[in-house]
Amino acid sequence: MPDVTPAEAEHSLLLKRRIAEAMANAGGWLSFEQYMRLALYEPGLGYYSAGAVKFGESGDFITAPEISPFFARACAQFFDRSLRALGGGDLLELGPGSGRFAVDAILAMQELKTPLSRYQMLEVSADLRARQQALLQQMPVQTDWLYTLPIDFSGVIFGNEVIDALPCDRFVIRSGEMWRLGVGQMEAEQADQSIAFEWRARRADGRCAGDEEFLIQTDRLCRSWGSWDLSPAAETLPDGYCGEWQPTLAAWIAALAQSLSAGALVLADYGLPRNQLYHPDRVVGSLRCHQRHHAHTDPFLWPGLVDITSWVDFTAVAEAAMAAGLTVSAFTTQMGFLLASGADATPHNAREAQGLRQLLLPGEMGEAIKFIVLSRDLDLTEYFAQDLLVRQDLRDSLGI
Ligand SMILES: C[S@@+](CC[C@H](N)C(=O)[O-])C[C@H]1O[C@@H](n2cnc3c(N)ncnc32)[C@H](O)[C@@H]1O
Repeated sequence: MPDVTPAEAEHSLLLKRRIAEAMANAGGWLSFEQYMRLALYEPGLGYYSAGAVKFGESGDFITAPEISPFFARACAQFFDRSLRALGGGDLLELGPGSGRFAVDAILAMQELKTPLSRYQMLEVSADLRARQQALLQQMPVQTDWLYTLPIDFSGVIFGNEVIDALPCDRFVIRSGEMWRLGVGQMEAEQADQSIAFEWRARRADGRCAGDEEFLIQTDRLCRSWGSWDLSPAAETLPDGYCGEWQPTLAAWIAALAQSLSAGALVLADYGLPRNQLYHPDRVVGSLRCHQRHHAHTDPFLWPGLVDITSWVDFTAVAEAAMAAGLTVSAFTTQMGFLLASGADATPHNAREAQGLRQLLLPGEMGEAIKFIVLSRDLDLTEYFAQDLLVRQDLRDSLGI
């Protein structure tokens, strides 16, 4: 693992104290969702709320917009087509990270002469918002940072790798039953006198916050499993099988759908349809941590210095969107979405060629990242009728 400076260790210790305090107030146990929320978003201390670099080569992980401007250029083609079909409108980017995507997308849309009125951004981290504002100082269109979702939004809402950063709850199988996998604090002697956390599984018996929602969610998941041919019924899953979901996902999608009066909501993320995400072979779930380009599965190592993510159940995204009146216009791989845009993918040097490989190849991000396009009062049939997208149309796999 990468070295940690004394200042970074001190920062992490402050956050651990804050988490330990929250745990003590909650009776000695925190759900993983509560832990992750504090570890990533606690003001001034959480990974996304404090000052670390995070994105790109000098950060902890690399996202598609940081790899190559081709990603934003290809998305801009889709934005252009959608905004023209709407007769003009706004772009709203969720969780813009470093702001790189916004810069490249705005410049690409300027070249395309896209009828874009404003480029709006919604970012929960004050630190990242300040960095985005510094980077986007002189853009050729109006840029605004929002604190809440707009009312009657007409245009395209876009988010890359935002859902996988929403805090997730975890379950673990114990003798065929789904238990809640949360967090406890180790005894001081086990933890070398400092603060350390460990996994603690417990039955959702109604004594902890969120138990009721957990039971509703596990019940829904089991019923949904029961409707598949290859059903991973909880009783048949091996002891120790783990899985996770983002409890706020459905409400978040519903709020976005309510905000969108006309246009498209495009979400790109690591994830799978439900029956593949909770496949019996995926015994350890999808929780991943990233620190200086090292990936591991221990979220208790250096909280505040490490990104924590979990994969997205795209069936849940589609269900929530449809319940809110949106149409699932496309569900495809990153490769399918980017290439179908028609953006020029010719590399001009070895670095660009490497970037394109990373974005497009199935063994890299090309297949693991999916794009879901949800729309309201916007006919995208022609756009998605292109050969390449038809071959990459994965909507049937969602089981909806
Ligand atoms: C993994 S980063 C991705 C950043 C950027 N989209 C990219 O692709 O490089 C996740 C981003 O989502 C933001 N975020 C997390 N929860 C959010 C929410 N509920 N609404 C808007 N942004 C959110 C984080 O602060 C961060 O900027």
